[in-house]
Amino acid sequence: MASDSGVGIHDLSFATTEFVLPHTALAEHNGTEIGKYHVGIGQQSMSVPGADEDIVTMGAAAAEPIVSRHGTDRIRTVVFATESSIDQAKSAGVYVHSLLGLPSATRVVELKQACYGATAALQFAIGLVHRDPAQRVLVIASDVSKYDLDSPGEATQGAAAVAMLVGADPALVRIEGPSGLFTADVMDFWRPNYRDTALVDGQESITAYLQAVEGTWKDYVEQGGRSLDGFDAFCYHQPFTKMAYKAHRHLLNYCGYVTDEARIARAIGQTTAYNRVVGNSYTASVYLALAALLDQADDLTDRSIGFVSYGSGSVGEFFAGTVVPGYREHLRTEAHREAIDRRQPVDYVGYRRLHQRSLPADGGDHPIPAQTTGPFRLAALRGHKRIYERCYR
Ligand code: HMG
Repeated sequence: MASDSGVGIHDLSFATTEFVLPHTALAEHNGTEIGKYHVGIGQQSMSVPGADEDIVTMGAAAAEPIVSRHGTDRIRTVVFATESSIDQAKSAGVYVHSLLGLPSATRVVELKQACYGATAALQFAIGLVHRDPAQRVLVIASDVSKYDLDSPGEATQGAAAVAMLVGADPALVRIEGPSGLFTADVMDFWRPNYRDTALVDGQESITAYLQAVEGTWKDYVEQGGRSLDGFDAFCYHQPFTKMAYKAHRHLLNYCGYVTDEARIARAIGQTTAYNRVVGNSYTASVYLALAALLDQADDLTDRSIGFVSYGSGSVGEFFAGTVVPGYREHLRTEAHREAIDRRQPVDYVGYRRLHQRSLPADGGDHPIPAQTTGPFRLAALRGHKRIYERCYR
């Protein structure tokens, strides 16, 4: 059994891409009134991966500071959650395991259920730590969100990775039961194996998300969860930040409260700062919301956070966390700001070129142009194998 101090998130770190496209550039290209992006969907800019960046390079960059701080000894499991997988067989986590020099006595696996995957990974990690509280689990959520050019989804693209160290006596957030669960077989958003970009029914996806919010909350209450008033803030999955506002308004109405915009802003406001400038990072999004909240709020000691994780298709989960005393000493606020600020703006033409790029599939030897200034890069494709390298600067 785990100790009295429970199990949860002991450390959290995120990484994003080399480039950033401001929504003003997209609006200028497609003639959209900028208010639709800045206010209507609540997005300012989107992270754009360089040619030599992918879910592995971002995942390794997010996890490296955690491994440097805590060492590798107690990590016996790595769970890599993604829906922009690079291989049908090999887990992206195995590449990260190698890049970070983790011990061979480690289990590594990849999980998928759209944007929900990282929450499944977190819950599985908690179960493993309960079985052996001496162990820690490295959970990595890493995704590149890509829609067709000139489609309505294009404005909601993005990319980022979040790494979390899950353990007993966590330094940041204790995760508590019960969970409210919801699954429904819907085709709101999906990506067949032969496609590089996602397919989506935009309005249907918003309805499906709101249904999942209702469904998870209903189950959470039935499982004996706390009342809505028992939460100080809510971290929602944020495909675009306005969605968190829609979802929280929906939850308040469902619970019989009159819609109070100031109350919604208090509950959500500090969770949107990173997602607003990064865009949809799929599995990482809800934990990017947590990072923004922890990094910005004055003092959350002993405060309760409600987490609403949603993955199209669809699976949702509502669960609670409590912020641990002393958490602020363990935050990575500066590094997170640096990850966002270091991105180089790309113009619309440059973004389009990167978007249209696809990796050669002929099995030849293809070096990849060096673009990232991050710690890891995809150096080549050789005999159908991805060759990664650490960048020493
Ligand atoms: P759209 O048709 O381009 O936009 O699609 P719209 O016409 O619905 O306008 C969007 C909002 O902007 C509206 O506000 C407009 O009124 C407002 P709302 O009515 O929603 O409150 N607006 C303006 N506001 C201020 N000034 C203006 C202005 N003009 C319009 N001048 C849509 C938008 C989100 C559907 C599209 O971008 C899309 O398809 N995105 C991808 C799908 C998506 O993100 N779905 C979210 C729920 S599903 C989910 O979260 C799962 C997901 O992450 C995948 C996974 O799980 O793996 C996607």
